[in-house]
Amino acid sequence: MKNIAIIGSQWGDEGKGKMVDYLTQKKGIDIVVRYQGGNNAGHTVVVEGKKHAFHLLPSGILYKGKTCVIGNGVVINPAILLEELKNLESQVGEKHAQLLISSKVHLIMPWHIIRDSINSGKVGSTKRGIGPTYMDYVGRQGIRLIDALDKKRFTQRIREELIWNKKLIKLMSKHADTAKELNEKKIINDYWQDLSAIRKNPLVKISDVSQFLSQSQEKGKNILFEGAQATLLDIAHGTYPFVTSSNPTIGGIYTGSGFRPRNLRVYGVVKAYTTRVGKGPFPTELKDSLGKQLRKVGNEFGTTTGRPRRCGWLDLTIIKYAKLINGFDALVLTKLDILSGINPLKIAVGYEIDGQKTDIFTTDFQKLKKVKIIYDELPGWKEDITKARKWSDLPKNAQRYIQKVEDFTNLPVELIGVGPGRKEIVSR
Ligand code: IMP
Repeated sequence: MKNIAIIGSQWGDEGKGKMVDYLTQKKGIDIVVRYQGGNNAGHTVVVEGKKHAFHLLPSGILYKGKTCVIGNGVVINPAILLEELKNLESQVGEKHAQLLISSKVHLIMPWHIIRDSINSGKVGSTKRGIGPTYMDYVGRQGIRLIDALDKKRFTQRIREELIWNKKLIKLMSKHADTAKELNEKKIINDYWQDLSAIRKNPLVKISDVSQFLSQSQEKGKNILFEGAQATLLDIAHGTYPFVTSSNPTIGGIYTGSGFRPRNLRVYGVVKAYTTRVGKGPFPTELKDSLGKQLRKVGNEFGTTTGRPRRCGWLDLTIIKYAKLINGFDALVLTKLDILSGINPLKIAVGYEIDGQKTDIFTTDFQKLKKVKIIYDELPGWKEDITKARKWSDLPKNAQRYIQKVEDFTNLPVELIGVGPGRKEIVSR
């Protein structure tokens, strides 16, 4: 199969960026597509010891000659996109991919960020305006990039939306002055300037992405879909209401890009332990010193907000659930090196809820509050595994850990991340 989807199977931050980067190269990918989310995401790719963090740009952007796509399901903040493009150019010159942006993307406007900040406590959002932008998208009030290509049309849409948003923010906020931050002239000028600069960039093109993808499929191009966030943060299939506002799961690819469902191999990315940022249930969370150790050794701090991530044992009931939702064909296990030196290792293989046993995760947070977790205990390993490149380089107990994942999920683990660098991967 020529097309690939990379989907997070837990609560995000599984290390998808690095695997996108690796598979783009290994599988001769021509086009890398982001289909949902916005700058709430953070993808890190380490190339020659240098860290590149992207929030909006697809991780494939470091490959000159390829095309990266921001699909219609993504929400964009033009100032952030411009900044990322500038940073990219200052780091790699013009050695990066072409960027095609769907004219149907919705714009994150200043009022969305204010509304998100007022409401962020509820789910611990990233305060980037993502939720309110999707609210207006679904409420048919959003401003799309297509509205912003003509200054008159853009100005009119901003005026219309400002009237309503000022009223709304006054209602929402305890601080009477919050709505005054919204200066019509400044918003129009800033956005117009940023969008003009983006459009002038010779490597950027704005068009209807679905047509481009359709033609590319006909020409037999290899397309990779890069999910942001993950299955349990999905608005439909995640731990609602503690979720993001888009669909990182498989359906999001079709609604968020216009790709036709053909020839798609779906990889689930699984971190060797579990992490979560923000609020919401997390049954295998470790609130003790081991949790702190995972955070420190695994550098588990948000790429976008810098917030410490909550850490815990690997929960295979989650991976089974994610397989069911996304139809995974194979798994990619990341950050296995972080577990070196921990003994024994625990893996959740089932829950007992009100006396009933199950081996598939439930997203009902009332039930999650009272689960009794059934763990399997496995022996750990002491060796540094960052130099391992093939299966036989891994200690027996690390192999056993991986085999446990395979047996439980009935899926092959094809790639294993053993360090942050581009090459620190065991491929099978
Ligand atoms: P929002 O996407 O900013 O609305 O935040 C909603 C929830 O999703 C919060 O719990 C965030 O911490 C979480 N979230 C959003 N983006 C990411 C991500 O890229 N990685 C992990 N968690 C995320």
